[in-house]
Amino acid sequence: MSIDEYKPGLEGVPATLSSISYVDGQKGVLEYRGIPIEQLAQNSNFLETAYLLIWGTLPSTEELTSFEQEIYQHRRLKYRIRDMMKCFPESGHPMDALQSCAAALGLFYARRALDDPAYIHRAVVRLLAKIPTMVAAFQLMRKGNDPVQPRDDLNYAANFLYMLNEKQPDPLAARIFDVCLILHAEHTINASTFSAMVTASTLTDPYAVIASAVGTLAGPLHGGANEEVLDMLENIGTVDRVANYVDECIATKSRIMGFGHRVYKVKDPRATILQGLVEQLFDEFGSDLYYGIALELERVVSDRLGHKGIYPNVDFYSGLVYRKLGIPTDLFTPVFAIARVAGWLAHWKEQLAANRIFRPTQIYTGNHGQSYVKLDDRSTPLPPGLLALGQEL
Ligand code: SDX
Repeated sequence: MSIDEYKPGLEGVPATLSSISYVDGQKGVLEYRGIPIEQLAQNSNFLETAYLLIWGTLPSTEELTSFEQEIYQHRRLKYRIRDMMKCFPESGHPMDALQSCAAALGLFYARRALDDPAYIHRAVVRLLAKIPTMVAAFQLMRKGNDPVQPRDDLNYAANFLYMLNEKQPDPLAARIFDVCLILHAEHTINASTFSAMVTASTLTDPYAVIASAVGTLAGPLHGGANEEVLDMLENIGTVDRVANYVDECIATKSRIMGFGHRVYKVKDPRATILQGLVEQLFDEFGSDLYYGIALELERVVSDRLGHKGIYPNVDFYSGLVYRKLGIPTDLFTPVFAIARVAGWLAHWKEQLAANRIFRPTQIYTGNHGQSYVKLDDRSTPLPPGLLALGQEL
C-alpha cells in the first residue's frame, strides 16, 4: 500500500452507495431523492421532506396524514428524561444535553430488533418526534422553568417555536423555520452522517447512532459553525472593519466561519435560499445590523478567496434567520440537529439494508522491533508535556 492512497479526511473517497441525496459542488446543485432543494423549499414542509428522505418517495395524502399523526402522538418526553435534564448544569451546552438525551432514549426501548421493520419505524418516529421537545425543554429548564407540553394543533415547525418561546409563532415565522428545517435535513456523506453510518454498521441501537451523529455535528468545523458565525459578526461589529478582519484571518491562516466547503466550490445553494429567507423576515419584522456586515463579509471573502472556491456555506446566513426567530445563539446547532435527524435516519436505514461494518486501514508510520525497557532502566528524560502531567498527577 502506498502513501499516495492515503486521503486526509477521506477527501473524495466514496464510502457508500446512496440514493438519498446528490450534490454537485461545481454547479451548486443539491437534490433530495432527485428533487432540487429549491423546489422542496418552495413547495414542501419538513415532515413531508423527512418522509421523502427516509422512505424514498413523496407520501400520498393518507401516508402523510398518518405519519404526521404518529409524530404528534410521540412528541412528549418520559418524565425520567425530564428528571435527568433537571440534573444538567444550566451552563452546559445544549448540544451536550441533546446528545445525552438521545442516548438516554435507548434505555427505554428494546434494543436492536433491527430485522423488524416495525422496530425501525417506531425508532424513526420517536427520534423525529422527541428531539425537538428535548431541545426546547432544555432551554426552558436551564432558565429554571418547567418545559411546556407540545401542542397537537401546531405543525412540526410551529410547535417547536411554541415550545421554545411559550407563545404561538407568527405564521410567516413558522413557515420560514419549516423551510430552514428542509434545507438542513440532509447533505450526502458529511461528517455527522458518516459518524451515524459507522455507528450503525456495528448494528447498535438507533439511539446510539443518533447520539454519535449529534456529537459529531457539534464541532465548529461542521454544524457548530452557525453559532460561531454570529459570534464572528458580533466581534467584527461594523461594516468598515470587515476587510481588516478578513485580511487578518488570511494572514494568520484562521478559518472564517460559515465559509468554505469540502464539496461546494461555489456558493452553497442553501445559503442563497437562506439569504432570501433573511430578507423576507427583515421585510416583515425589521432588519438586523449584522446583515450588512454579513453582506460585506461575503463580498470581501469572495473577492479575496473566491479563486480558492471559498464561498458562503449553509451556516453563514442561517444564524441570522434563527436570531430573528428568537432562537438563542447556542441553540443554532441543536436546531441544525433537529433537521438533520431526518438525513441521519435515512442513511441508517440505507446502511442496514446493505451493511458491512466500517473498518478502514492505515499507513503505519511508527517503528518495529522495539523492546520493553524496565522503569528503573529508563534514563531518557520524559518529554516536557508528560513531565508536567506527571507533576500534576
Ligand atoms: C457544514 O460536508 C458537509 O456537507 C457539511 C455541511 C452539511 O450540510 O452537513 O454542509 C454542513 O459543516 C458546513 C461547513 C461549516 N463549517 C464552517 O463554516 C467552518 C469553516 N470552514 C472550514 O473549516 C472548511 O471550509 C471546511 C471544514 C468546511 C472544509 O474544509 P476542507 O475541505 O478540509 O478544506 P481545507 O481545510 O483543506 O482548506 C482548503 C484551503 C486551505 O487553504 P490552503 O492551505 O490550501 O492555502 O481552503 C482554505 C484552507 O486554509 N479554507 C479557508 C476556509 N475553508 C477552507 N480559509 C479561510 N476560511 C475558511 N472558512
